[in-house]
Amino acid sequence: MIIGGGAAGLRAAIAAAELNPKLDIAIVSKVYPMRSHTVSAEGGMAAVLRTDYDNFDLHAYDTIKGSDFLADQDTVEFFVREAPKEAVRLEHWGCPFSRDPDGRISVRAFGGMSVKRTLFATDKIGFHLLHSLFQTSLKFENIRRYDEWFATSILVENGRVDGVTAIDMRSGDLVSFLAKAVVIATGGCGRIYQFTTNGWIKTGDGMALAYRAGVPLKDMEMVQYHPTLLPNTGILITEAARGEGGHLLNKDGERFLKRYVPNKMELGPRDILSRAEMTEIKEGRGFEGPYGSYVHLDLTHLGEETIEAKLPFVKELAEKYLGIDPAHEMIPVRPGQHYMMGGVHTDIHGYTGLPGLYAAGEVACISMNGANRLGSNSLTECLVFGAEAGIGAAQYATKQAALSFGNPVQGLALEEEKRIYDKVLKPEQGEKISTIRTEMQKAMEEHVGIYRDENNLKQACRLIGDLKKRMKNAVVEDKDRVYNTDLVSALELDFMLDVAETIPYAALARKESRGAHSRTDYPKRDDDQFLKHLVVYQTGTVPRIETMPVTITRWKPEARVY
Ligand code: FUM
Repeated sequence: MIIGGGAAGLRAAIAAAELNPKLDIAIVSKVYPMRSHTVSAEGGMAAVLRTDYDNFDLHAYDTIKGSDFLADQDTVEFFVREAPKEAVRLEHWGCPFSRDPDGRISVRAFGGMSVKRTLFATDKIGFHLLHSLFQTSLKFENIRRYDEWFATSILVENGRVDGVTAIDMRSGDLVSFLAKAVVIATGGCGRIYQFTTNGWIKTGDGMALAYRAGVPLKDMEMVQYHPTLLPNTGILITEAARGEGGHLLNKDGERFLKRYVPNKMELGPRDILSRAEMTEIKEGRGFEGPYGSYVHLDLTHLGEETIEAKLPFVKELAEKYLGIDPAHEMIPVRPGQHYMMGGVHTDIHGYTGLPGLYAAGEVACISMNGANRLGSNSLTECLVFGAEAGIGAAQYATKQAALSFGNPVQGLALEEEKRIYDKVLKPEQGEKISTIRTEMQKAMEEHVGIYRDENNLKQACRLIGDLKKRMKNAVVEDKDRVYNTDLVSALELDFMLDVAETIPYAALARKESRGAHSRTDYPKRDDDQFLKHLVVYQTGTVPRIETMPVTITRWKPEARVY
């Protein structure tokens, strides 16, 4: 069973179906797969295709330096080698990549990459990539889809996975699925923050499912802010706009990045650019608007033709959401939450350590992004490690004996039914779900944002802890069973609170600054103490933190200067 129908989930399903055509493969997704958040990816996917000037070692080095040396280097080396194979496979499955006049797939510059290696389909790669995977998945008769089914728990018996409970949103019934192996591919948890590029569906479901099943979450303190979001909506203006030559300007019209990343300028990594924008704003060189402070993204020098050809979606977004033409006017932008480097702990093959459970894509922390992901590596990650997890799960499932729906699985399913219908749906009075959600998002934004310190983080731990208690007395106002989105929102919020809590706890434990984790009270990177992963386990009380080593193969940690 695969939970999630985005890039990683579909790729896992295809890999599993190819490996063993006799397997019965289910994709359970709370939305129709083409509505998965992958669809909103804009800029492109990274892979070494131009071997005349690029190579695997350079892609690996860029990724590892981008990660501030927290990535596991064996994982990165595997990733860069598999990346071009996945890109070519995707092209054969129909992905309409943009092309150079000579017919080769075009590549563009992206942040933190030394050379042009990001493949793209204008600025709508997510839409095209997802379509290509989706239509390919339709070829396999042994892939069954459960669209608009919401997974609520992983069934674990005798220390191994036995299946999943999920609500059929159309009827409101809770159903138990027996599954020899489960791949979690539900994406990130950006909606725990107030200002994010993430769609409403990105509520950390898979992270919470694994965490509740006893699997630790890893590197959760590493939260990526992207430097160019529209201030009024949080909609992403792709990094490709800077890859194609766009400039970031402060209110004096200055390309301020020359004071922060002089060698890379607009193509510096996201953590550094987001902090630079915050500094400009704090020091009075930003603009003030009805939706807060911002800086300018200037594309006017690119010309209408380039914008039409390479960035049509940026143009459409600027026109529709701001009423401006980016060929002639500046786009206001500010940083906002975009991606989780942390997630469900897995090994290099997507295995979580709990027999039968795998994870891939943003939900997973396979440790290739470390403390900061480079733009355009994540779609490729979904393909490379989605396939790995699908193969691993299929191999495992192929070897397992048939399951039967006896106890204790039956007991677990009944308990889950009671939790959902008696504890969550039944109460007639209580606090509104939306109040708790808004307070959680505010707490995370204010206390666990781009800059952190001990006081703020402790405050966040306390606030989220209080909200978890209040959640027990929340009310689902809609009592109907059919498409009860109020109930689903309550279950999502319950997941989000568990996941949110791990972030300030992990951030508090990491007493250094590294990549996206910037502590004003510990401003330096401290390799002696903290060149290690932090993993968070759920307990009956506050989360427990342990450490795991970082795998270094060939690239010794060095100062991260751009
Ligand atoms: O800006 C972007 O297009 C985002 C890309 C990414 O997060 O990989």
